[in-house]
Amino acid sequence: MVMLKFGKYFSRAFETIGNALRLNTFLRNLDATQIEKISSAMYPVEVQAGAIIIRQGDLGSIMYVIQEGKVQVVKDNRFVRTMEEGALFGELAILHHCERTATVRAIESCHLWAIERNVFHAIMMESAREKTMTFKRYLKWSNRFCGYPEEVLLRIAEFCTEMRYEAREELVVKPQYVYLVCRGSVSSFFSFLGKMLE
Ligand code: CMP
Repeated sequence: MVMLKFGKYFSRAFETIGNALRLNTFLRNLDATQIEKISSAMYPVEVQAGAIIIRQGDLGSIMYVIQEGKVQVVKDNRFVRTMEEGALFGELAILHHCERTATVRAIESCHLWAIERNVFHAIMMESAREKTMTFKRYLKWSNRFCGYPEEVLLRIAEFCTEMRYEAREELVVKPQYVYLVCRGSVSSFFSFLGKMLE
């Protein structure tokens, strides 16, 4: 389910969730579209002080971002750390399909944002599919690959990676890679640096 979020309250939520995703070790490579879709899919959860949100050893299916409040992480009955506004937790079971690695308890009443594993994975798969199709289109439009059969272009596209550079930032060209230069949106101008193939 994707919720439409408008207004000041939700723009603060988008900022909090986006920053939490960007700062997380395992999620920091998400792109802007993925972050927006995940933020849109997160729903609010209110938790009372003292409540256990995640129990170590359980099979977890929800990842959380703290909008307000404070939680405590306890692993093997040992205090690990506290987390507050802007922190993300519960990502390990979602990403690795493992048991919950720690217990997370609210030490203040908390306002959280939550997302289910299947929604998260559906967003990731959809965006991977969209990216592959975009790469395939770029390949097809390039002088170098335009004559290749569709299934070969698709296979190559599955291995493409997007790289972004700021203005005047230098790109160190590696001879083992082929580079497609894309400007603006998907439908706009792009050119192929055929020289790098030689
Ligand atoms: P998960 O294993 O899904 O559920 C418990 C969560 O606690 C875990 O994801 C992390 O988000 C968090 N967590 C576990 N261990 C630590 C740790 N050592 N430091 C910080 N957070 C942790």
